[in-house]
Amino acid sequence: MLILGIETSCDETGVALYDADTRELHHALHSQTAMHDEYGGVVPELASRDHIRRVLPLVRHVLKAAQGDLKHVDAIAYTRGPGLAGALLVGASIAESLAYALAKPALGVHHLEAHLLSPLLANPAPNFPFIALLVSGGHTQLLRADNVGRYQLLGETVDDAAGEAFDKAAKLLGLPYPGGPALAALALDGDRERFKLPRPMAKSGDFNFSFSGLKTAMHHLLKQNSAASQADIAASFQEAIVDVLVTKSLAALRDSGLEDLVIAGGVGANARLRQRLAASKARIYFPPLEFCTDNGAMIAFAAALRLKAGVGNEDSGLSFSVRPRWEFEQGNL
Ligand code: KG4
Ligand code: ZN
Repeated sequence: MLILGIETSCDETGVALYDADTRELHHALHSQTAMHDEYGGVVPELASRDHIRRVLPLVRHVLKAAQGDLKHVDAIAYTRGPGLAGALLVGASIAESLAYALAKPALGVHHLEAHLLSPLLANPAPNFPFIALLVSGGHTQLLRADNVGRYQLLGETVDDAAGEAFDKAAKLLGLPYPGGPALAALALDGDRERFKLPRPMAKSGDFNFSFSGLKTAMHHLLKQNSAASQADIAASFQEAIVDVLVTKSLAALRDSGLEDLVIAGGVGANARLRQRLAASKARIYFPPLEFCTDNGAMIAFAAALRLKAGVGNEDSGLSFSVRPRWEFEQGNL
């Protein structure tokens, strides 16, 4: 079964061709970060227009690299949501048009489910059931995954997402967008014990998070210590976020009685988070580094797993819709 996957939910155009029988995977990505950098964040209209320019050349590129042909594709998957409405519509309409022309099914995939399943692309891969920490620019959630399509939300952020907190703190430090990787790079040379920032909700007794207060704490820290090393500030900030993520994830794992903890989403690329979790006794799984941030491979892969499990949400006829706000909730997706 050959799946073409298209991701256009935010500022990355990702395309992939995944063969579910051989596990052969070809993918290509165009990141718009340089384009949005001068505005300090994603400009939705620019994002949509750039996706339009990029999707089909990327499809051609991936097909060529895979020596594949659209005729042999069995299904076309795209990100239905959550994400920027205009950006989602680009991927959806191109995927639906291709599917219609080829008389093949089109599948709208939940972006967070794709992130959550992406560690299964790694070798060794986790086994169901597992606990998953989903940490992206827009979401911070702890979930229990019992099978493909069967997820239970254990807790989530009550305000900012972890990636968003990284991005906002990076902005305060004058670092380029997206801030997470830049702040993590700066933190490498810093002393993480130099400043003690709050660990919000670390002892709340549930699996929820809160990161908006950290931004305020960071703001005060910068004002009061204008001469302090930027690297020390970045390292101390990163440590506070990582500390909370690690504490809560391990607590959720203990509480569930399960053994496998999966980390997915852009912040999963953070080296300090990986280092701290590796030092714990739990069995931890990450997606391959290139599939932590947004990509087309996770969309094709999630669609393949859903089809195999018989839970594919295929579109019917010419009607389709995107879901810019799509809860990833308790129960079946
Ligand atoms: O999953 P993702 O690519 O997009 C969303 O679905 O949101 O995640 C992007 C987020 C951004 O906030 C970015 O700053 C953060 O992931 N990020 C990182 C790192 N790499 C990406 N945060 C901390 N450390 C990193 N190395
Ligand atoms: Zn994402």
